[in-house]
Amino acid sequence: MEGGGGGAPRLARSPALPSPAPSMAAAARDHLPAAGLDEADEAVRGTCEDASVCKRFAVSVGYWKDPYIQYFVRQAKERKAPEINRGYYARVHGVSYLLKAFLKKTECNCQIVNLGAGMDTLFWRLKDENLLPRKYFEVDFPMIVARKIHNIKSKPPLSKPIMESHSGESLLIDSHSLDSSRYSIIGGDLRFSSDLEEKLKKHNLDIQLPTLLITECVLVYMTPQQSANLLKWAASTFPVAMFINYEQVNMTDRFGQIMIENLQRRQCNLAGVEVCKSLDSQRERLLLNGWETAHAIDMMKVYSFLPQADVKRIEGLEFLDEKELFEQLMQHYCICWASKDSSNLGLASITF
Ligand SMILES: C[S@@+](CC[C@H](N)C(=O)[O-])C[C@H]1O[C@@H](n2cnc3c(N)ncnc32)[C@H](O)[C@@H]1O
Repeated sequence: MEGGGGGAPRLARSPALPSPAPSMAAAARDHLPAAGLDEADEAVRGTCEDASVCKRFAVSVGYWKDPYIQYFVRQAKERKAPEINRGYYARVHGVSYLLKAFLKKTECNCQIVNLGAGMDTLFWRLKDENLLPRKYFEVDFPMIVARKIHNIKSKPPLSKPIMESHSGESLLIDSHSLDSSRYSIIGGDLRFSSDLEEKLKKHNLDIQLPTLLITECVLVYMTPQQSANLLKWAASTFPVAMFINYEQVNMTDRFGQIMIENLQRRQCNLAGVEVCKSLDSQRERLLLNGWETAHAIDMMKVYSFLPQADVKRIEGLEFLDEKELFEQLMQHYCICWASKDSSNLGLASITF
């Protein structure tokens, strides 16, 4: 999640959005001089840290297992609120549920492209579960990629699994990219999709393979035009593909407005918030940009669809005082997914 808050009066007390944070307004972004753009991009890059610190904290409390996140970020200085931890739990499990359904349909004979991956640890977790796709790609700003590669190079628990899954010629690694036979990290700007395709192809992207693209709290930092271009590029490039997007929704109501105002107070605007009006606007963006099927559900619904025995377990971890705040927060984030499937693998039937 990113964003926070609860009922109007409480929002002032808990303004921290659970992960993404800063960005500049669409209009401002389009008209800013270079220095302003850099500043805006720096704020967006900062969201990477927010997301991974929150994930690490939730993992340390026991919400889910991730032995790798500790190698990418420091432990949070302060406790995160239980509603934030539960939000991250739903986000991680919700995305993972759809992703595993895709891996099952394709029998892992596929590739995954995680766009704006930040310090995500999915590659390592999938390897541990013996669920690696043929190749797993990540893209993020070069500065973020450089940080991730530095951590990988200096921490054997991260580098070893990459070496183990690698075969063939020597693994290519420099400060801004890594290319092994099963895992690649690429520095680039998602707002320029033609550039992106070229870079991915250099790392052996195979457009004929069933492809899962993931954006977790990423599209909201681009203008609607930029995210539309990215979605259109993906839909027109891969004949068999699925797209999973997690981000804000219902942002025009009072709660959503307070989330936006709280962010603006921290100099952060969400450039793509216009598309986060409703579940319908989220679905529509996917359908208008070349995807054949599209679904969008809010995180409260996702939470109700998750395996209830585990939900019960995590609900016992911390006392949740602010039930109403939790529900409101969850109603302001969603998971959307879309597919196109010329090989009839059954991607259209993937759902919770
Ligand atoms: C909120 S973080 C989420 C990171 C990760 N997806 C996760 O959920 O843990 C957003 C990420 O998207 C990246 N990002 C946003 N806009 C981008 C762009 N135009 N090009 C490349 N990366 C971008 C940021 O650098 C950041 O790492």
